[in-house]
Amino acid sequence: MSQQSERMRRLYRFQAPIYDKTRWAFLHGRRQACELLRPRSGERILDLGCGTGRWLPRLAKKVGRQGRIVGIDCVSKLLARARSRCRQLSAVRIVEGDWLELDAEPEAFDAVLLSYSLSMIDDWQDCIRKVHDCLSPQGRVVVVDFLHCRTPGLATVFRRHGVQFGAERRAELQRRFALTADEERPAFASAWSWYLLAGHRCAKAQ
Ligand SMILES: C[S@@+](CC[C@H](N)C(=O)[O-])C[C@H]1O[C@@H](n2cnc3c(N)ncnc32)[C@H](O)[C@@H]1O
Repeated sequence: MSQQSERMRRLYRFQAPIYDKTRWAFLHGRRQACELLRPRSGERILDLGCGTGRWLPRLAKKVGRQGRIVGIDCVSKLLARARSRCRQLSAVRIVEGDWLELDAEPEAFDAVLLSYSLSMIDDWQDCIRKVHDCLSPQGRVVVVDFLHCRTPGLATVFRRHGVQFGAERRAELQRRFALTADEERPAFASAWSWYLLAGHRCAKAQ
């Protein structure tokens, strides 16, 4: 098991059962991210770091029977929930593993969603490069994630929960993709902020 997977497994050891009941308070903008991805009939979509798979059924409905949704995560306890959510959805495949270690075919996906997963990945540059390479030409990416936290005590709590704030990650996404949306939003009277970014693959940067 990779160090990243082991870290995530430890982090979610006790949180998996309460994950869906608690995350609505912190992980803002996830529904908007799903909508911004604009999944279309027949598309191949990757939900990278899908966790409990909350968005997989919604994505599966949009791509229909001809489409394919892959949910990848490295924590089996979270994926157990995702599997039970999607057990009747033939378009959905759940894969357990560290994204950075999995084989990813070039141009395998039409769109990739990263919903609060990029902030937890140590080797984020490699992650973004791999996302870029697995997209079809003009393939789309949508990222929603933590950006800044200027409330000192709170920033420490987030960090203890594996969050690394995202200014550098966002800058790299801005550099790599042709952007169609890119905004910062405040949460709870600016206790922290999150960003929602959408773009597509282009020849701009490698
Ligand atoms: C904060 S959760 C977000 C889960 C889900 N996307 C959501 O919006 O509720 C971050 C997820 O990223 C996963 N993750 C972190 N690093 C990963 C990696 N290298 N490969 C696969 N999944 C990873 C974690 O296991 C965790 O489920």
